Amino acid sequence: MKDPLFFHRREYASKLINSLKDGITHAFTLFAPRRMGKTQFLLQDVLPLAEQNGFNVFYFSFMDSTNPATDFQTALYQFAQNIQTGNKTKTFLSSISKIEIMSVGLERESDKPEIPRLSDLLNLIAADNQPSLLLLDEIQELARLPDTDGLIRSFRTGLDVNQNKIKTIFTGSSTNGLRAMFNDNKAPFFHFAHALDFPLLGKDFTDFLADIYQNRTGNNIDKTALYALFERLYHTPMYMRAIIQDMILNPSASLAAAAAGRIEELRASHNEMSLWQQMKPLERAIIRDIATNPYTSPYSSENRRKYAAMLGVATISTSSTQGAIRRMERHDWISRDAGGRLIINSPLFKTWIMENIE
Ligand SMILES: Nc1ncnc2c1ncn2[C@@H]1O[C@H](COP(=O)(O)OP(=O)(O)O)[C@@H](O)[C@H]1O
Ligand SMILES: [Mg+2]
Repeated sequence: MKDPLFFHRREYASKLINSLKDGITHAFTLFAPRRMGKTQFLLQDVLPLAEQNGFNVFYFSFMDSTNPATDFQTALYQFAQNIQTGNKTKTFLSSISKIEIMSVGLERESDKPEIPRLSDLLNLIAADNQPSLLLLDEIQELARLPDTDGLIRSFRTGLDVNQNKIKTIFTGSSTNGLRAMFNDNKAPFFHFAHALDFPLLGKDFTDFLADIYQNRTGNNIDKTALYALFERLYHTPMYMRAIIQDMILNPSASLAAAAAGRIEELRASHNEMSLWQQMKPLERAIIRDIATNPYTSPYSSENRRKYAAMLGVATISTSSTQGAIRRMERHDWISRDAGGRLIINSPLFKTWIMENIE
């Protein structure tokens, strides 16, 4: 069903697809926190355009599956089977918990007898006349599972070997998780994909929603105010869209009234105070620094002196600083942006720190 409140980003999608098609790169990672529209972008913008461009398309979300490693291989197997039967391009959306495995004449060398080896699957997919595009949503979840090292490594090998027939778009909502897969020099996908920060929606999005509201209700809406509200919602499309939906269904509601409820909801889904209490003093000193100064370098001797003074101790060593940063990264409180700068993952937590900690 067509969603009238969905704002398409076809230009961005075609930029990605053209780069894949032309061989400028064979893989992208798109990073953004959750609820920023990555999944919808893949499904509503990238997928149809990729089909038009002659790709077989495979989508899999590592977030929604209870047994991602097995489900993924099973889904990929089905995809491989699908594209073998027929010459039209095939799309495969996986939303499985259990897929029945149909037997085909494949060699079975793997220790999981029911599914061929990942590398064989990828070779099979690459053997099709059409190129394939794999949309792998929230990929960092795969790396978080125990005992997936072997799987991830053979996956990478299979993709490397078949680069000109199999293209990939990964998404992730944890920069640390993505880094563990793509950026660390020991990471299995080190330098494999071109990393992009998934762009924030801008005023064209809120103008689009304002026009729909005006068409449907005959009421006016202040576009500048709507965009200002969107900024307060940290450019999160989910809440913005919910507000417009509320206002269309209840045209007498003012923007302020409709917004109040959703802002409350957004706040309630986060508990900054308890997070703050879980942090150690040095971590608090560092994260405060990151909140207020995006270019800070916590390891500098000047900063370490500052932290020591705040904590009332003589000195803070670089190794304690490193320990604190590592722990905050493990908890996904902080991470690094594409440019390598330390950032606070939750924009709400960042605002909370700036507003509540002197
Ligand atoms: N382009 C868009 N136009 C309108 N609403 C959107 C758009 N992108 C996302 N949304 C809204 O935000 C919600 C979350 O988007 P989703 O793609 O699931 O985010 P993510 O995958 O980044 O967590 C969607 O369910 C939808 O309501
Ligand atoms: Mg998603």
